[in-house]
Amino acid sequence: MSHAEDHAGTRRDFLYYATAGAGAVAAGAAVWPLVNQMNPSADVQALSSIFIDITSVDPGTQLTVKFLGKPVFIRRRTEAEIEAARATALSDLPDQTSGNPNKAGTDASDANRTLDDAGEWLVMIGVCTHLGCVPIGDGAGEFGGWFCPCHGSHYDEAGRIRKGPAPRNLDIPLASFVDDATIKLG
Ligand code: FES
Repeated sequence: MSHAEDHAGTRRDFLYYATAGAGAVAAGAAVWPLVNQMNPSADVQALSSIFIDITSVDPGTQLTVKFLGKPVFIRRRTEAEIEAARATALSDLPDQTSGNPNKAGTDASDANRTLDDAGEWLVMIGVCTHLGCVPIGDGAGEFGGWFCPCHGSHYDEAGRIRKGPAPRNLDIPLASFVDDATIKLG
């Protein structure tokens, strides 16, 4: 594998994100030679995984990235958001399933919804589970999370439906930390 081929592979990984940090680039370069040897899955892999540099995401803000044709919210929550979400009783939730394919826990407790155990990072598909609008974030709605104005669905700080017609909590995509600076989707 030449250096040039390495670089080309890495660029495909960063289709949606052109200014990745050094850590993420190194991870991509390490993974790609293996994937390339397993053609024809390489093309599928290139489309089904992206790496997101999260170093510029401050507490209380979020990134929205496009992944497999859908918006994905990557929110770095404040202490207050974490506390509020963790204080919510399961019995107050219309949908008590975690919906998180990245964790073993099956109920919708906040600890089962977040990507990290401390609860700082929440990664969710930004599509209302009612009829597919993109909810407004940054503490919108009556429960401090997201609000879908289409028909009035309110989601809380963990993206759990609390009021309105949406039947399910916001879905969570396959995601993982590559390192402290990088989240991999897919
Ligand atoms: S699509 Fe969000 S409330 Fe209907």
